[in-house]
Amino acid sequence: MRHLLSTMDLGRDDALAILDTAEQMAAVGEREVKKLPALRGRTVVNLFFEDSTRTRISFEAAAKRLSADVINFSAKGSSVSKGESLKDTAQTLAAMGADAVVIRHGSSGAPARLASSGWIDAAVLNAGDGTHEHPTQALLDAFTMRRHWARLHGTESAGTDLTGMKVVIAGDVLHSRVARSDLWLLRTLGAEVTLVAPPTLLPFGVESWPCTVTYDLDEALASRPDAVMMLRVQGERMHSAFFPSVREYSRRWGLDDVRLDRLDALGLTDTIIMHPGPMNRGLEISARAADSPRSTVLDQVRNGVSVRMAALYLLLSGENSTDRTPQEQPR
Ligand code: CP
Repeated sequence: MRHLLSTMDLGRDDALAILDTAEQMAAVGEREVKKLPALRGRTVVNLFFEDSTRTRISFEAAAKRLSADVINFSAKGSSVSKGESLKDTAQTLAAMGADAVVIRHGSSGAPARLASSGWIDAAVLNAGDGTHEHPTQALLDAFTMRRHWARLHGTESAGTDLTGMKVVIAGDVLHSRVARSDLWLLRTLGAEVTLVAPPTLLPFGVESWPCTVTYDLDEALASRPDAVMMLRVQGERMHSAFFPSVREYSRRWGLDDVRLDRLDALGLTDTIIMHPGPMNRGLEISARAADSPRSTVLDQVRNGVSVRMAALYLLLSGENSTDRTPQEQPR
């Protein structure tokens, strides 16, 4: 694996290698000294053309825990406002010695363009591109689900997949790169996926995707899912014509207190509630649902550091995870 651009292109073996390596990284995170020397002397550039809290900071934390140097670039306040192109921006940062470029961009395909262009000689990691993909979010979601699935079955997470797990992904599917990346990865790992959205927030051609599609959240919850992923309503990418009223959206497609209580009434004691963040509390998810014991929102954030450590390690160390563990790297 040279780059990490999408989960559609990620094979099962590579996905499991990242998840299994992330388990090892999580064990490092529980130690008193959380740092590994694995990427000492390497430089990771965070190249963010769109806002981010979780992804940018967890990539930075991940790189630092592996002892890499980190350069943070935000388009706001940079020479992008003077018209500098992606090519010139990337080459400028690469000239400062980037071994990996983590890129978030508003245009779908920008990371793939950077990886295939020959402009820079660095590993490219997609941190979210337009409405296309967000592969490390999907990996951390799968990591969180796999731990839950393993706990339910009394097994170890490492080496296992999600065969038989039922996952509902609900909300603004149209604009969601998380929904796409989650779907491709969850299917690769053997989970069954149901997408729920208002008709105006489903993409053209969704019928051909490998999942069940419905407009009815209550019907999807009655199918007894093991995990319910609520998606953020992406107002910044939306024209008003797409959107039911806020009141209607929250009543029909929100995980409100009534639906939260219905999970109990249905006997779904082990169903987890997920959200990639940032959350619109009171719109797609109620505060009580977001803060309930079922919620894995903060676990997802925590697991994001381990997953991003694993991705950086596997791309930059040149090691196959089965050959040598990160802990065995020379100091
Ligand atoms: N989930 C996610 O990508 O969050 P940020 O936009 O804060 O990075």
